[in-house]
Amino acid sequence: MSAVIINGKEIGQEIRKSVEKRVAELKEQGVTPGLAVILVGENPASQTYVRNKQKSCEAIGIYSELIKLPEEVSEEELLDQIRSLNTRESIHGILVQLPLPKHIDEDKVIATISPEKDVDGFSPISVGRMILGQETFLPCTPFGVMKLLEYSGIDIAGKHAVIVGRSHIVGKPMGQLLLQKDATVTYTHSKTKDLPSFTRQADILIAAVGQPNFITKEHIKPGAVVIDVGINRDDNNKLIGDVHFAEVEQVASHITPVPGGVGPMTITMLLFNTVQSAEKSLS
Ligand code: GUN
Repeated sequence: MSAVIINGKEIGQEIRKSVEKRVAELKEQGVTPGLAVILVGENPASQTYVRNKQKSCEAIGIYSELIKLPEEVSEEELLDQIRSLNTRESIHGILVQLPLPKHIDEDKVIATISPEKDVDGFSPISVGRMILGQETFLPCTPFGVMKLLEYSGIDIAGKHAVIVGRSHIVGKPMGQLLLQKDATVTYTHSKTKDLPSFTRQADILIAAVGQPNFITKEHIKPGAVVIDVGINRDDNNKLIGDVHFAEVEQVASHITPVPGGVGPMTITMLLFNTVQSAEKSLS
């Protein structure tokens, strides 16, 4: 039996439509949601991500402003840019594209973004609020995964969710969001011994490893929901996930493809957070 394919492109489109409607309503009240994206250096992958974020903003009427800084920019200059954006009324969201060059302290940069404009949800205040279950911006990729589960009608309460990967951007917040929906959560990572003995217990498996085809059918309990957060390139430069799709779709109940699964949700939730921030500025 093959798994139901969770279509992130379709679910993302549906959410974008409702976000677009909210943008129009804001404009009627005289507010255009604004997102500032800071890109430091010439990293080709970052340039592509940033271009896609800008295009997606423009497509639904969000004002987007790109601030390009040279690789050699000083940390202080970057912090000054952020401080200035923090005070600009027309900017509701600030995103600093990661990674940053080595001479810049990433933690310091993220902590300088006002929590009220931290639409990536990466600042220590946003993370603390998230863990306490308080109102905040949720990090876009795990937030997008929660929406995929919701739109696919997958119950979370009481399920065993196993996370493979413990990054600040995906693994850690993913576990927290699932915990808040009453899952029992296990974190696994590169030092975990006998990984399949954990992943085979998962009702919901989140693969955020960064290694192509790492999760095979030996890792999966029949009927599990498998969410693939990986974005890797194979030898032919084709996008592939962390999950061996052809094998795993034979045993899972639901699976996200790469591309077209989690990927489109990340930008969707960035748009969602930016509009939410603009709405808050009115209240
Ligand atoms: N680099 C890779 N993913 C992300 C992301 O979600 N946000 C930012 N700011 N940088 C990233």
